[in-house]
Order: sequence, then C-alpha cells, then structure tokens
Amino acid sequence: MPLARLDISHLRNLTAVRFDPSPHVNIIVGENGSGKTSILEAIHLLSFGRSFRSHKHKTYIQYEQPECVVFAQLEQDQQPRIPVGIKRSRDGAIEVRIQGRAAQSVVELAERLPVQLINPDAFRLLEGSPKIRRQFVDWGVFHFDDRFINAWRDWQKALKQRNSLLRRGKISANLLAAFDQELIRLGEYVNTARKAYVAALTPHFESVLQQLAAGLSVQLNFFQGWDAQKTLSEAIEHSYQRDIDVGYTNTGPQRADLRVKTPSGDALDTLSRGQQKLVVSALKIAQGQLLIERGRQLVFLVDDLPAELDANHRRRLCQLLESLNSQIFITSVGPDSMDFTWSDQTDVRHFSMNQGELSQASKGLQES
Ligand SMILES: Nc1ncnc2c1ncn2[C@@H]1O[C@H](COP(=O)(O)OP(=O)(O)OP(=O)(O)O)[C@@H](O)[C@H]1O
Ligand SMILES: [Mg+2]
Repeated sequence: MPLARLDISHLRNLTAVRFDPSPHVNIIVGENGSGKTSILEAIHLLSFGRSFRSHKHKTYIQYEQPECVVFAQLEQDQQPRIPVGIKRSRDGAIEVRIQGRAAQSVVELAERLPVQLINPDAFRLLEGSPKIRRQFVDWGVFHFDDRFINAWRDWQKALKQRNSLLRRGKISANLLAAFDQELIRLGEYVNTARKAYVAALTPHFESVLQQLAAGLSVQLNFFQGWDAQKTLSEAIEHSYQRDIDVGYTNTGPQRADLRVKTPSGDALDTLSRGQQKLVVSALKIAQGQLLIERGRQLVFLVDDLPAELDANHRRRLCQLLESLNSQIFITSVGPDSMDFTWSDQTDVRHFSMNQGELSQASKGLQES
C-alpha cells in the first residue's frame, strides 16, 4: 500500500511538513542538515514505531516540543484510503491509530506498511553481530508466515524463563525438562520457518545481485544455531551441563546467523565498501521481491543513494528499484548524482528540502 498524503510535525527540524508523494518514485534533494533523512525517519517511525537512527525517542522529537506526530493515508486498490498515525511523546508514551481507532500495538502498522531501508549504515548488516542478521531474517519471516510472530514471542518467553531459572541455579532436572518441552517445540517452529524463508530468499538474492554487480560471487549460508546433524532436543540435552555451569541456554535458534560468504571468506573481510553496499541492497531488494511476489506492497527508503556507489552502480540500483513497481523515497545531496533516466511511465516526483521545508520541484526545474 503506497503512502499518500504525509503529515509530519515536530520531528527533528521538520516542524510541519505536508506533502503528496508519488506512488512510485520520490526524489528528495537538499543540503546537509536540511532534513532529508528526517523524512525517511518519519516513514520508518510509522512502520516500526521506532527510528533507524536512535533508540532514544527524545533525540528525534523536536527540541522543546512535547511530542512528534506522523500521519499518512495508505492507498488501496479501489478502496477508500486508510488513515494511519503515530504519536511519540517525550514521556515515552506511544500512540498508534489506524482508521480512527487505537491500535493494539505497533505490529499492526508494521503488517500494513512493510518498509525496507537502504542507507549508508547498511553494511552494518554484514559487520554487526548475528543479532542484526537474525532481525533481518525474522522481519522477512514475519511477513512470510502469519503464525511466526506468535510462535517467536512464545519461544522468547520460554527462553527467558529458562535462562532465569538457570541464572538462579539450583534448578531441578524435572522443572527444566518441563520447560524444555515447550522451548523445543517452539524453537523447532521458529527454525523451520526461518529455513524455509532463507531457501525462498536465496534465488531472489542471487538474481538481484547479478543485476546489481554482475560477476560478484557471494553465498548465503544459514546457521540454525546448533549442529545441523542434531535435533534441537538432542542439542539442548547435549549442552545441559554446560547451561547449568554458565547459567544460560547455550544452544538453539537464539544463536542463529545468516552468514554471507565469498569464495575467499567472510563478505565483510573481502568485499570493498561499495560492494558491501551492493550486497546488502541486494538482500533487501530480494526481501522486497519476495513480498511483492506474494501480492504485498512495500515502501523502499533509500537514504543518500550516491554514498559509496559510482555512477554505473547508482544507475543499476535505480533501474532495479524502478522495476519493482513499489513506492520509493530516495534522498541525495545533489541532483547531479541522480542522473538516471526514469521511464516515461514512471510517476517521478522531485522534492527539494531546505531547512526543514519541503517543496515539490517541477521536473523541468530539476533538469535545468
Ligand atoms: N531533536 C531535534 N530537534 C530539532 N532539530 C533537530 C533535532 N535533531 C536533529 N535536528 C536537526 O535537524 C536536521 C536533521 O537533518 P537530517 O539529518 O534529516 O539532514 P539531511 O538532509 O539528511 O542531511 P545530510 O545530507 O547531512 O544527511 C539537522 O539540521 C539537525 O541538526
Ligand atoms: Mg541525511
């Protein structure tokens, strides 16, 4: 569902920004510090209930303001638009509204508005801890398998309870065994769903990467979190004494990782910065393709497109994004680096950002 009519108030330097984005390509150009990333941050907030720049909500609420608000209308085929909104208050309160009613949680918005972000921090997906890659996989599974979110939550709860028992020590084998049954059942579910997802993602990733960076050889290996020759039950039984000794659960889906490899080793150690950005972009676009294939729509946020990419690779990325037929928001410091020629059929809207004010620029103006 593309976003129509966005209303942002008191988010960083965006005091009151209202605009009608294109359902397809939106290009936002402006100087450093003008507020481009903040526009993407507002859309991300609407989908995830949090920013991608900071976990501290106080950092993005405008100085001296009690709250920031983002509103939008979600467009649907032949149906009235759905108004959605989020309000974050300085005191920590979070309010999500969908069609005039309070939503149960931010997950309701995430389901309706899947958002993919490609930004200069993207290589953190390769560089960061396995947790970041698990989150990447789980985001995909969440949109792929309707039952995943509940199984995942229950599994997390069971794992936390087990760890808290282990931490306190002196647990009876019977009590632990009772916990383990549920933990294993849920953990197996989480793992099976993740494996099915990675298997579906892999061919998309390979084909997108070929389009973005032909000849680059990169493989995805999913590590489930324990010895692949063992069932989860066997693995847990095997590490029982160790778990008691160290006071937490050593083995299971909480150790899973999506390993990204080249023929000479970890992608992180062998690929150039630009190649890393292309690999991460391919992963994210592949996730998007998989959703689109299943009849869903999503929004792509591409912050600072030119960062790390040469003209040829920028064009390839734009070409690929255009072919997805999704709504895209691209930011760039200068129009010169946005030299891609979009098809005449593509609804491209150009915006310029100036000290927190957004204005739509006519195409002719951009070209002159
Ligand atoms: N809480 C806040 N309240 C008010 N202004 C803020 C707040 N946090 C950041 N700012 C300012 O808001 C602006 C945010 O800019 P943003 O990061 O969106 O710029 P940008 O156009 O993406 O710049 P760049 O090209 O450097 O990436 C900056 O000028 C920043 O100093
Ligand atoms: Mg920025």
